[in-house]
Amino acid sequence: MGQSANPRSTPQPSPHAEASPPPSRRAFLRRSALAAGGIAAANLAIPRMVHAAGDDAIRFGLIGCGGRGVGAAENALNADPNNRLVALADLFPDQVRHAREHFARRDPNRATVAEDHCFDGFEAYKRLIDFVDIDVVLMATPPHFRPAHYEYAVNAGKHCFVEKPVAVDAPGIRRVMAANKIAQEKKLTVVSGLCWRYDLGVRETMKRVQDGAIGDIIAVQENYNAGFLWHKARKPEWTDMEYQIRNWLYYTWLSGDHNVEQHVHSLDKASWVMGDKPPVRATGLGGRQVRTAPEFGNIFDHHAVVYEYENGVRVFAFCRQQDGTSMDTEDYFFGTKGQARILKNEIVAGGEKWRYRGATPNMYDNEHKEMFAAMRKGEVIYNGDYMATSSMLAILGRMCTYTGRTLTWDEAINSKEDLSPAKYEFGPLEVPPVAKPGRTKFA
Ligand SMILES: NC(=O)c1ccc[n+]([C@@H]2O[C@H](COP(=O)([O-])OP(=O)(O)OC[C@H]3O[C@@H](n4cnc5c(N)ncnc54)[C@H](O)[C@@H]3O)[C@@H](O)[C@H]2O)c1
Repeated sequence: MGQSANPRSTPQPSPHAEASPPPSRRAFLRRSALAAGGIAAANLAIPRMVHAAGDDAIRFGLIGCGGRGVGAAENALNADPNNRLVALADLFPDQVRHAREHFARRDPNRATVAEDHCFDGFEAYKRLIDFVDIDVVLMATPPHFRPAHYEYAVNAGKHCFVEKPVAVDAPGIRRVMAANKIAQEKKLTVVSGLCWRYDLGVRETMKRVQDGAIGDIIAVQENYNAGFLWHKARKPEWTDMEYQIRNWLYYTWLSGDHNVEQHVHSLDKASWVMGDKPPVRATGLGGRQVRTAPEFGNIFDHHAVVYEYENGVRVFAFCRQQDGTSMDTEDYFFGTKGQARILKNEIVAGGEKWRYRGATPNMYDNEHKEMFAAMRKGEVIYNGDYMATSSMLAILGRMCTYTGRTLTWDEAINSKEDLSPAKYEFGPLEVPPVAKPGRTKFA
């Protein structure tokens, strides 16, 4: 199966002339972009069109119709009754078809996606952005593809929901950072899928910590100690490329390794409490000891990394995916006056224990509620900087565990190591060897 196998892969000259809303409907979403172009923002800041009957739909498209992508589109539909899912893109036609059928059943009025708004193939994201009239793009493919997708979306002036992590290597991060500048210039909303920042209990606990509830931070311990994840058995018709992408978790070029793909959630909370400033350097050790069969690609199954910050604070970051081991996912913050557990929403200081007891709406829904509400008010939420920093923090960790070297942030972010394959096409694709600390070179 290749992209040419499906007629949907061939874009039609804009099929959406009749679907395009009158300019007024979308005016409120474009105001901020216009303001960035030098047009006075003041008289554009009121969401007048939001209240015009029948004229207030926000149209979004989804790139990456897997588990999280479908979930994110659900969250976007939950966020506001006037949100509409109007386009789907995925590398594989079956993934598009499943998502399309799912949403047509779930919400026929708001999520029945026209056949000619469904795209597959490596260029599907471009077609979704170029040929469908959308305001917002949700991005949820394997992270390798995110920099290209994000760059294309912001260049087209789309508001973005960007799943974590945002890249798998430093060139990818630099591309995201360049796109961030454009997003800011255009005053686009960029919401990151680092979802714990949208969890009300985590937010309140973090706020108290940052307000001094445990004094000055001395150290942070981040644990994401978990078990094995899913694997999809190879079908005879799958090429190497298809097999790897269907099992993207296990290939460093696609996922960044599990300390990037999964542990980034924890590292993001460490980075958050450190004011989203990067560390000076990091040292790490890791390996592949239990999950060694070929179907698990070339990633490690455990990493331990120590990040050193300019102010002397150290972040000790542990993650593993090994069945039969003790599970623990938690952020332990140690301060001069007490301690906090962020996921537990708990602070212990001065002999007293505080626990968050407020509302606990679903954080995934909340990301989208806040994102769409801001857009409707003509406001901008911009998470671009921290989504890049936290992803890079994870990539730095992997560089240390793979090479066995202590590396500075500056070395890592300027790294030339580009994990991309030579070409994006279905066919043979060798799996690079598993890294060996001390022998794998830093590039
Ligand atoms: N925030 C969270 O809590 C959370 C949870 C799960 C996953 N995620 C992230 O979401 C992303 C997707 O994860 P998932 O669990 O949905 O994986 P998945 O395998 O279920 O879905 C990925 C989808 O992307 C498609 N795809 C692959 N390459 C593509 C390309 N080049 N263009 C278009 N589509 C392509 C696949 O066919 C698949 O449908 C990952 O970055 C993951 O880290 C975040």
